[in-house]
Amino acid sequence: MNIGIGFLGFGHIGSGVWGVLNANADTIAHKEGTTFTLRRALVRDLRKPRAAALPDGVLTDRFEDILGDPGISVVAEFMGGVDPACGYIEALLRAGKSVVTANKEVIAQRWHRLETAAREGGAGLYYEASVGGGIPVIRTITDSLQANDIDSVMGIINGTTNHILTRMSEQGRSYDAALREAQEDGLAEPDPRNDVEGFDAAYKLSILSSLAFHARVPVDRVYREGITRMTPEVIRYGQELGYAVKLLAIGKKRGTSIEARVHPTFIPENHPLASVRGAYNAVFLHGNAVGNLMLYGRGAGDLPTASAIVSDCIVAAKAKDHRYNSFRNEARPAPEVAFDGNWQTKYFLNLEVIDRPGVLAAIAGILARRQVSVASLIQKGYGTATVPLIFVTHQTYEQSMLQAVREIESLPDIIEIKALIRVEDEDSA
Ligand code: HSE
Repeated sequence: MNIGIGFLGFGHIGSGVWGVLNANADTIAHKEGTTFTLRRALVRDLRKPRAAALPDGVLTDRFEDILGDPGISVVAEFMGGVDPACGYIEALLRAGKSVVTANKEVIAQRWHRLETAAREGGAGLYYEASVGGGIPVIRTITDSLQANDIDSVMGIINGTTNHILTRMSEQGRSYDAALREAQEDGLAEPDPRNDVEGFDAAYKLSILSSLAFHARVPVDRVYREGITRMTPEVIRYGQELGYAVKLLAIGKKRGTSIEARVHPTFIPENHPLASVRGAYNAVFLHGNAVGNLMLYGRGAGDLPTASAIVSDCIVAAKAKDHRYNSFRNEARPAPEVAFDGNWQTKYFLNLEVIDRPGVLAAIAGILARRQVSVASLIQKGYGTATVPLIFVTHQTYEQSMLQAVREIESLPDIIEIKALIRVEDEDSA
């Protein structure tokens, strides 16, 4: 079976996909009985130099050349962003062409529209590469874990931030220095906000937790906090308590209540996710039959991403019937689930305070009034006018903790709230 395909975009990822289609053509033909012919690739600028050469006549700057080509049945999109990608994908799906995409932003924000277009066109929408790059996490959830009720997903699903936090943790780098090094190594974008502020992880968590919990988790219901305020000092204090810091994307489901949040998190240093270093990604989930499960691999890069995209192209090309999500996939949250912004977890609170009698008692009084129970307390330093205090709490409610911190901040002897980091240590394998 020979499949005519089209590309939307032909940059770094597109070149990787082209490379894998060529280098592994015999393997794919042998295993799947499928060969691919790239018929058209849409680019903005036909004269721009490309990392890989395409056969003459393949590059085009007219979307209609792909939409109107009856020989193209599968289109791979690597443009990124919502517009114009969304309009192109919708038009292709309505025209009956299946679309494979690595674009987490368009899936997270316009999934409902794209899925409606796919159903109406009888086409398939495939997005394995949108979460975790080369890690086969989407199909693992949809095609291998259907027998489970999944109640928790925790992921390191942004390689840039994991690389920066690894450098800060292992080499004591400041945030700014670790970011600069990541940019010099080509691992962080010149404008890093999408990664370091947690947007990228929030898009991915929206997709992952929707599939895991079988209910659309809109991206605007994902709490998001980035890594820009992390300091090597706070990471070191966490390490002294046996914790590693990760930008975790956490989804949990209890009954009909769902929480979804992306924020720096302390996890026990023996948790499987703590060993995920550098730009690697991993997803740790719990299903009621399978128990704990972790998938680990490269979350970005041309070849790992191409691995997922080309696999999706094969699935799309061979599907007799495309599968659509059976949960209510709408922009607004489904009425059958509630989104819980008042989750329960433990907290690490680092304060800089004036060292004099009564300060601790005042803080402890506020925590007690807010029903926040302290598990451990450390005072660092000695003989200086101000000292660091570190509290680790028992499980408590987010809103109680935030309220307590606001009240503590207004006490006269508090110099600074240096960090409030959530601690997840219930789910270690
Ligand atoms: N920017 C992402 C990351 C890769 O740093 O993991 C693309 O999803």
